[in-house]
Amino acid sequence: MPIETTVSVVAAAPHDAELLAVPYSPELDPQLAADLPVPVAALFAHYEAKGEAGEIVEVPVVRGDAVGRVLLYGVGDSSPRALRKAAAALTRRARGRQSLTVVLPSGSSSAFVEAALLAAYTFKIGAPGKLSVRELVLVGGDEAPVRRGETVAQAVALARDLANTPASVKNPAWLAERAAEHGVPVRVWDEEALAGDGFGGILAVGRGSVNPPRLIQLSYAPSGATKHVVLVGKGITFDSGGLSLKPTENMKTQKTDMAGGAVVIAVIAALARLGAPVKVTGLIAAAENMPSGSAQRPSDVITHFGGRTVEVLNTDAEGRLVLADALAYADAVLDPDAVVDIATLTGAVTVALGRHVGAVYASSDALAEELVAAGQASDDRLWRMPLIDDYTPALKSSVADLANVEAGSTYGAGSITAALFLREFAGKRPWAHLDIAGVGRSTVDDGILTKGATGFGVRVLLEWLTQTP
Ligand code: BES
Ligand code: MN
Ligand code: ZN
Repeated sequence: MPIETTVSVVAAAPHDAELLAVPYSPELDPQLAADLPVPVAALFAHYEAKGEAGEIVEVPVVRGDAVGRVLLYGVGDSSPRALRKAAAALTRRARGRQSLTVVLPSGSSSAFVEAALLAAYTFKIGAPGKLSVRELVLVGGDEAPVRRGETVAQAVALARDLANTPASVKNPAWLAERAAEHGVPVRVWDEEALAGDGFGGILAVGRGSVNPPRLIQLSYAPSGATKHVVLVGKGITFDSGGLSLKPTENMKTQKTDMAGGAVVIAVIAALARLGAPVKVTGLIAAAENMPSGSAQRPSDVITHFGGRTVEVLNTDAEGRLVLADALAYADAVLDPDAVVDIATLTGAVTVALGRHVGAVYASSDALAEELVAAGQASDDRLWRMPLIDDYTPALKSSVADLANVEAGSTYGAGSITAALFLREFAGKRPWAHLDIAGVGRSTVDDGILTKGATGFGVRVLLEWLTQTP
């Protein structure tokens, strides 16, 4: 379900708005102040409100014969972060209502709109829950940043929708069909084409499922582009672990194991609308990781695109196997200036960084700095993690070029060793890897987050691809 709230911009607040939100300030607009039953300072004192971001004081006001409501909302220090928090609180408060009119605080209206809409996102199969506010009327916003915020939010919503879709519906072929719906040229490798071109990692992971794997390529190529970026997304439509089967508790969240792939689809779909000047090729390595009589076994040796062999010691470390093929293909065939992969790769990254900050690993300091800065600006926060060379022996195999996991437990550092594995396939080009296993789904409905898939990665990548020259 895309976000169904419509957004319009008006010059002045209609005096009769049923639900009117106004940023809290001691010097309130006199006309509005006249509507309030008591002076605004007294109201705030009464509710012990401080004007912090996310705080809302709701006041009934007379509207002819009826009662309207004014929401006095705090904006804290008015930073983009505070404005996002304020905006999310407002649309959450307006759930179930027809219309919300918001007098915008001065500052970033793009971040405000984006957060207001993301907090209004819902995903429900069956009888609808409390509907999000139907109409958001913004007073005093500039059209261009408002529309940018809306486009970004819709892109995040698309990534959430794809990841929230149950795996009984969402298999690799389904994902390829969804990728083709955005007016961007698509190339899809089916299982035969994958075999023909030597994508042994994607095939090995997909072997256990009745739903065969796919490699999906999307191409956004604006005229005059001078830079070419490849985005690689992990597209495991369900990760049971394979023969290295996960326990139920860990398995039941794994329909979102294609969140990275969903982000790549959503970003590329939004680039044209945002007028990004960069050529971007998306690769989504899609497979369903299932146990069966045809599944790969722990101890199998597979051959990746480009000829490197890998001993599969744990079939649950499948993300790196599908990504390795796509990274090797990008390096050998697509000639990019930079490669960024995004993947719900390891449970270990959640131990390190938790559920609010994603990990970025990079072979290039400049690329890492750009991504961290874009993360800060877009609110998809990233923290740079180290590629510790001393840990590379963890990936040694006695029978193949590499092992997909450490045979023993000398090194630990599961997110780092996974990144080191990927680095082997990325070639010598600037490469970054985003491990979003911790931030890819939310356990709570809070602020801009809704329970389930978060769409983390869409905002930082859109920011990066539309800001860098
Ligand atoms: N898809 C999982 C990682 C994951 C875990 C994502 C929890 C989201 C929430 C990945 O394929 C996986 O199973 N990783 C293993 C790697 C291990 C076998 C080396 C893990 O993290 O346990
Ligand atoms: Mn796994
Ligand atoms: Zn996985």
